[in-house]
Amino acid sequence: MQLRVAVFLAAATLVQSDQGAWQQCGGIGWSGDTTCVGGYACVKSNDYYSQCIPGSQEQTSASTLTTSTSSAAAPSDTGGPFEPDVPHAVGSWAAAYSQASTAIAKISQQDKVNIVSGVGWNKGPCVGNTSPVGSIGYPQLCLQDGPLGVRYGSSVTAFTPGIQAAATWDVDLMRQRGQYMGAEAKGCGVHVLLGPVGGPLGKLPQGGRNWEGFGPDPYLTGVGMAVTTEGMQSSGIQACAKHYIGNEQELNRDSMTSNIDDRTMHELYLWPFADAVHSNVASVMCSYNKLNGTWACEDDKVLNGLLKKELGFQGYVMSDWNAQHTTTGSANGGMDMTMPGSDYNGRTVLWGPQLNSAVNSGQISKARLDDMAKRVLAAWYLTGQDSGFPAINLKANVQGNHKDNVRAVARDGIVLLKNTGVLPLKKPGKIALIGSAAVKNPKGINSCTDRGCNTGALGMGWGSGTADYPYFIAPADAIKARAQTDGTTVSLQDNDNTGSVSSTASGADVALVFITSDSGEGYITVEGVAGDRNNLDPWHSGNELVQAVANVNKNVIVVVHSVGPIILETILALPNVQAIVWAGLPSSESGNALVDILYGSTSPSGKLPYTIAKAAGDYGTSQQRGDDNYSEGLYIDYRHFDKANISPRYEFGFGLSYTNFTYSSLTATSTAISGPATGSVIPGGRADLFDAVATVTATITNSGSVKGAEVAQLYIGLPASAPAAPPKQLRGFTKLNLAPGATGTATFNLRRKDLSYWDVGRQNWVVPSGSFAVSVGASSRDLRLTGTITVA
Ligand SMILES: *[C@@H]1O[C@H](CO)[C@@H](O)[C@H](O)[C@H]1NC(C)=O
Ligand SMILES: *[C@@H]1O[C@H](CO)[C@@H](O)[C@H](O)[C@H]1NC(C)=O
Ligand SMILES: *[C@@H]1O[C@H](CO)[C@@H](O)[C@H](O)[C@H]1NC(C)=O
Repeated sequence: MQLRVAVFLAAATLVQSDQGAWQQCGGIGWSGDTTCVGGYACVKSNDYYSQCIPGSQEQTSASTLTTSTSSAAAPSDTGGPFEPDVPHAVGSWAAAYSQASTAIAKISQQDKVNIVSGVGWNKGPCVGNTSPVGSIGYPQLCLQDGPLGVRYGSSVTAFTPGIQAAATWDVDLMRQRGQYMGAEAKGCGVHVLLGPVGGPLGKLPQGGRNWEGFGPDPYLTGVGMAVTTEGMQSSGIQACAKHYIGNEQELNRDSMTSNIDDRTMHELYLWPFADAVHSNVASVMCSYNKLNGTWACEDDKVLNGLLKKELGFQGYVMSDWNAQHTTTGSANGGMDMTMPGSDYNGRTVLWGPQLNSAVNSGQISKARLDDMAKRVLAAWYLTGQDSGFPAINLKANVQGNHKDNVRAVARDGIVLLKNTGVLPLKKPGKIALIGSAAVKNPKGINSCTDRGCNTGALGMGWGSGTADYPYFIAPADAIKARAQTDGTTVSLQDNDNTGSVSSTASGADVALVFITSDSGEGYITVEGVAGDRNNLDPWHSGNELVQAVANVNKNVIVVVHSVGPIILETILALPNVQAIVWAGLPSSESGNALVDILYGSTSPSGKLPYTIAKAAGDYGTSQQRGDDNYSEGLYIDYRHFDKANISPRYEFGFGLSYTNFTYSSLTATSTAISGPATGSVIPGGRADLFDAVATVTATITNSGSVKGAEVAQLYIGLPASAPAAPPKQLRGFTKLNLAPGATGTATFNLRRKDLSYWDVGRQNWVVPSGSFAVSVGASSRDLRLTGTITVA
């Protein structure tokens, strides 16, 4: 069967011309030509990507037979994200270090300096570049943004932002997203793709860059960091966990200090980085801010203490771009690579020749320089980049079938917040579409540098963590195409003018209103928003627009594209608003994903990765003008709402479906023993922290009438013997795909870490004794089953 398909493909592609220099020529999902023009060979980079690389005189064909087509992962219905005894991390540090040690013995001090020093801003093909060391076959390293794909790539996929991946709660889709991003980076010859993002975590709902990461719950973000790292590195790319650490706001990010107490540091902000380190992340990027008054990129406690000693991180720490402040302070504080190597004017250079002199004068030891270079080389060997790595070419077409992942994540990350029954649509006679956000940016989908505008449909925030859209399916385009098949009439008002909505919306069976809220990195200001959002209201008078439509139509569906929570109270007060579709940040597959949900070809299955409050003040955190003492401690997002007894509008983990799920039969077993962790340190921390010590199961039944997927969530409460802690904390989730009437088992594997708190006195993770509250449910406030785990 597979052979026949392959033969057919080969025959079908014979009529096409050979692939040109640097073009894709094979990989899973590839249906184009598998031969290259003369002088180029089709070389397999990984399962997803083969590329025409110079160096062969004869035409070579990629093997389509060896690739499997089963990789488009379906949501799994067994096991949570952390499956015991299933090692996913790529590579062995021990083997990589042995290779690095051999190499380092052969190179000069100048070579070592070259390996750890960027060549300077705008001095190479990538956003970060180092110098090659020919004697050991070490290339000019290419470091490129960013967390959703190859920035400045001219024919790459713009993947969905991290926050959309988090909203799917689908580990397989997250991992596949990482694999595909890694494959594209490798296809472009990018060695280090600068993601995933574990900081900002998102303690401030207004934080400008929250959408690049996975939301304010450390467990969910930790899973996102782990599987994205594993996916990227399985494609032969070095991942970079960033921004380490305490960079929660854009305002004054390069002057403020984040003063985070030790327990909060461990239980919230460090947690996701520990998971990335456990997955063998190759590199970590230190952030712009200070911690307790010390720059993150020269903070001995944060880099040498927490990251390298406590978490056993064996890769290298690179500076955020121009986040280095001193030559010796950064070297002795634990930084291993400076980026981009100069300031943005090409002037201040702190390593390079200065590092050489500091080593010669003994201010920095030779051993420290060796350690830096060895870490960088080891990461290169770890990811297998010492053989067959493509040359740098940001123009390569590396998209393959990756848009399938964009569409799946965009769709499965849509959260249905309200539905009185108007959805799914049932062949309406007339649909009205209203809002500037329903259509493509009329000036061009990539007309604003780094997505630095909120014009037309919103697919991602702005800043260095973006990529050019290869295409953009706007909501209006996809809805019009779908409506045509039903004979539905579509009328469109592609602006936000409240005075004119009546002519479009009155008389329509349903009226869809598109509203947005945007944010991004602080070097760009959009409509008065300098990175962090100024408020949590929809942009472009979205509340007034919805109100105007609701005045003339009884079936209003509000579609929200947003970087994070907005306050929905004004909209919810309108009785004619029958549904709210929280479509998040869908990137280029926006319209297709939305149509999948609106018309019910897929039941909505996304759940909120953050809390939507009734008022902005309810979050209990706010952007600081000066320094930030993190006085809210452990109590961010739902942890705060629970503790302060504040009712959110839509709680963390919430999302509706077109079907119903019932929960039954909780079981909880545990082998956990109270006390501190005792294991030796492996990547991620003490080894026993990652042991599975408890298993919770629940039975979930699709009791409705259509197929759907449910994200079952596990929350724990610590026993009374523990110090004061959030009433509940997410410690497991699993997504089950169920046909109507079908039943599945949600299995949650808890690691020792998941039952521990950080004991400041003992400087260790401790499992408290007593009775843990265990709750399983459909959201953080819709807990259907409860039980206990008792630990002696
Ligand atoms: C910052 O100071 C607080 C309070 O003394 C302490 O708990 C924490 O560990 C310090 N953090 C760092 C990174 O030095
Ligand atoms: C943060 O703590 C320091 C030291 O206790 C104090 O001087 C400062 O006023 C505090 N800042 C804020 C914004 O509360
Ligand atoms: C789900 O259950 C509710 C309450 O029992 C019921 O009103 C609704 O019709 C059910 N929905 C589906 C899709 O079965």
